[in-house]
Amino acid sequence: FCCALGGAIAEPKVINATEPLLLDAVQGKEVERPPVWLMRQAGRYMKAAKENWYSVRCKGIQLEDFVSHSYQILCEKHPSFRERSENVDLVVEISLQPWKVFRPDGVILFSDILTPLSGMNIPFDIVKGKGPIIFDPLGTAADVDQVREFVPEESVPYVGEALTILRKEVNNEAAVLGFVGAPFTLASYVVEGGSSKHFTKIKKLAFSQPKVLHALLQKFATSMAKYIRYQADKGAQAVQIFDSWATELSPADFEEFSLPYLKQIVDSVKQTHPNLPLILYASGSGGLLERLPLTGVDVVSLDWTVDMAEGRRRLGTDVAVQGNVDPGVLFGSKEFITSRINDTVRKAGRRKHILNLGHGIIVGTPEENVAHFFEVAKSIRY
Ligand code: CP3
Repeated sequence: FCCALGGAIAEPKVINATEPLLLDAVQGKEVERPPVWLMRQAGRYMKAAKENWYSVRCKGIQLEDFVSHSYQILCEKHPSFRERSENVDLVVEISLQPWKVFRPDGVILFSDILTPLSGMNIPFDIVKGKGPIIFDPLGTAADVDQVREFVPEESVPYVGEALTILRKEVNNEAAVLGFVGAPFTLASYVVEGGSSKHFTKIKKLAFSQPKVLHALLQKFATSMAKYIRYQADKGAQAVQIFDSWATELSPADFEEFSLPYLKQIVDSVKQTHPNLPLILYASGSGGLLERLPLTGVDVVSLDWTVDMAEGRRRLGTDVAVQGNVDPGVLFGSKEFITSRINDTVRKAGRRKHILNLGHGIIVGTPEENVAHFFEVAKSIRY
């Protein structure tokens, strides 16, 4: 058990020439086990309190190290989400917390899909207990005109610096993952003014002034393609596109307001970065599965409302598949967690599978169950 957790990381001395397992799996190469990481693995479930250390302790991790790897302690010192996600040292430290403790095969940048907004002239904040807040929600053609195209080098240099450092630290023992928000999901935040239940404002715009929404979606598509390229140039080895709210759209409306922009982003990135794997996640995507590979992405990340074997069939053989384990499973018994992992791996088949949850890890998930998840996942042999 302890060995599976890996112990303390050594300073990287030589650049590891072997490709990370996750990239091999995406390319359809034969791998000995599925790579594994967790969405939202960097974040609030990581208490790293003393009692948690007792459950994941192992040779090489000292209690003091473990406690300093606490996201919650960092939050006390740096209560502003924007500070935590826009300061290079904090971004690197938080991104590496799960890497140091669980050794996942993917290390995702600690950031947010909304991070580019201030560089696009859309002021925002993420407030504890309230979530994302857009101070001046967009609703008119004049508002959309005010949106600036994103220049990552100027607006978010800390993202590039953090990715470059992460790449060196992780040293190809795992893949460094970047991410962006998809145009429709970003548009839903900036039009609704924050999180939403019924998405009435963006639907009002879509269904009464579609041209205005299309103009906004186009700005996001151009900007996010640039942002993906920037992340890849600075060190990201794969980039996940989150279209969390696309499934609020009916399939026909998805085809008008989301799919073309996703496809445009993928086409544009592939022109300059043909080998950069792109992963698409849309929660609640069961009704849209056949349409998702039409975007051209390399990997589709499934939620848990679809059976893995059926999902595979519906997605076709070209695309790799990720996710599908209900995040709630991590609240179950260890035996239950093990059996769900085995079930998912069996149904996904031996090639092109990345083991992951069907959505982000839930705050309050026992860390010892997260440790168990990684331990079982990493001991799998096909
Ligand atoms: O996966 C990771 O560990 C990387 C970090 C990451 C965050 N946000 C950090 C974060 C990622 C990949 C995201 C993506 C993101 N952000 C999405 C897409 C994924 C999904 O869940 O569908 C969305 C929709 C957002 C927008 C957003 N940011 C929401 C809805 C919230 C939660 C608000 C709340 O307080 O519950 C945030 C804030 C946020 N982003 C947190 C974290 C860890 C929590 C706030 C905190 O830690 O202080």
